[in-house]
Amino acid sequence: MADALKVGIAGLGTVGASLVRIIQNRANELATTCGRAIEITAVTARDKSRDRGIDLSSITWFDTPEKLAAEADIDVFVELIGSSEGAAANSVRAALARGLHVVTANKALLAAHGVELAKVAEEKGALLNFEAAVAGGIPVIKALRESLTGNTVSRVYGIMNGTCNYILTRMEKEGLSFADCLKEAQRLGYAEADPAFDIGGNDTAHKLAILTTLAFGTQIAADEIYLEGITNISIEDIHAASDLGYRIKLLGVAQKTDSGIEQRVHPTMVPYNTVIAQVDGVTNAVAIESDILGELLMVGPGAGGNATASSVLGDIADIAKSQPGAQRVPVLGTPALALAPYKRAQMQSHEGGYFIRLTVADRAGVFASVATHMAENAISLESIVQRPKPDAEDTSKTIILVTHATAEHSVRKAVDAIKGETYLVGEPQVIRIERPKAF
Ligand code: NAP
Ligand code: HSE
Repeated sequence: MADALKVGIAGLGTVGASLVRIIQNRANELATTCGRAIEITAVTARDKSRDRGIDLSSITWFDTPEKLAAEADIDVFVELIGSSEGAAANSVRAALARGLHVVTANKALLAAHGVELAKVAEEKGALLNFEAAVAGGIPVIKALRESLTGNTVSRVYGIMNGTCNYILTRMEKEGLSFADCLKEAQRLGYAEADPAFDIGGNDTAHKLAILTTLAFGTQIAADEIYLEGITNISIEDIHAASDLGYRIKLLGVAQKTDSGIEQRVHPTMVPYNTVIAQVDGVTNAVAIESDILGELLMVGPGAGGNATASSVLGDIADIAKSQPGAQRVPVLGTPALALAPYKRAQMQSHEGGYFIRLTVADRAGVFASVATHMAENAISLESIVQRPKPDAEDTSKTIILVTHATAEHSVRKAVDAIKGETYLVGEPQVIRIERPKAF
């Protein structure tokens, strides 16, 4: 049997501790499958004294990730710390500079510095694997980077944040508050160290930026994403969506259009009878539409220690099985030096259906005025309904509109005009509608 693959792990939190446990418990099976043992020889985290429920007694402890990456006797550096800067970025750069293979689950790091890191890895002939960075346990990176080679992708979209999907599902199904659902997602190890990244949509944006590059062969452009999180979604929106035959999901969507590539992250209404609408809890789903294959939909666990560690382990096993000096798959699907510039399609030109919820004073002519503003902006309506507020004390009314496919700029103009009307109470709610093709 070949020499053991020596692995150093930086970060022993939710994902890191699960990974150590799995590698230790499955040592024999891994050695058989990979043709060589996988041995953890070095680890680091912030607090050496913390009980993590794992046996680190025979593993060398390093005081910092940077020191481990620069000095440890290892073949692979595994970064499970998080954040785009600081110890995570410094240690990954140090490991690649030495020509070590790197495995990371850190989407924030890749969204910010992925092209730079890919260039170094490719120069050094090292592997930089990151399956766990997008959609947890779903092998979407491998699918885009390897399996779909030769396909022209037209749209990639999906539920890519387990925390948000968990919150939206439990709010809808159990009537729990947003804050309670978020606390539970944190307790279960789904949320980022700063959960504002989850609920603000930034985590989905980081993942989407990576998928866009893999799908379209363009530079990573995480700063060019239209971004809305789920913090403004109320239980009233969730119920209204359900009454109209939709569910609300936080989607990331990257799509080729005539004017460039659209990248957007926002709460989205999806028709109730589609597979993606039925994806609940921490489960993620990623759909890829391409010309040769058609539509591919992958559904699976999107966050949590074991799901994420499963993808990290797959990446380590690929390295164990790889031949030294062999031709490498480009880190981002296309060689880093050959990535095309990213051309952003303007959000104003986005075409799709819209859900608009207005709270209005109960006065004669309001319904007609709202319909007139829509007509003046050439917006064709699929439905328009008026409802009393559930609270009998509240004399205002809710008007809910669903539009046929229309341009974003028309909807914004119509909503701006309604904002100038004295009958409007509070902020209008606007949620885009996305229609899956095949499932
Ligand atoms: P976590 O539970 O917060 O663990 C982070 C680990 O990094 C901890 O062990 C912490 O040490 C260590 N650490 C933090 N700053 C450090 C520093 N400056 N020097 C040394 N060690 C440091 O995070 P996680 O949930 O495992 O996530 C790790 C990575 O995986 C992140 O990039 C995350 O985005 C990604 N990811 C997570 C999930 C998930 O479901 N959790 C899924 C996919 C991807 P201490 O333990 O001593 O504090
Ligand atoms: N915080 C992330 C989520 C972890 O909730 O999906 C997985 O990337």
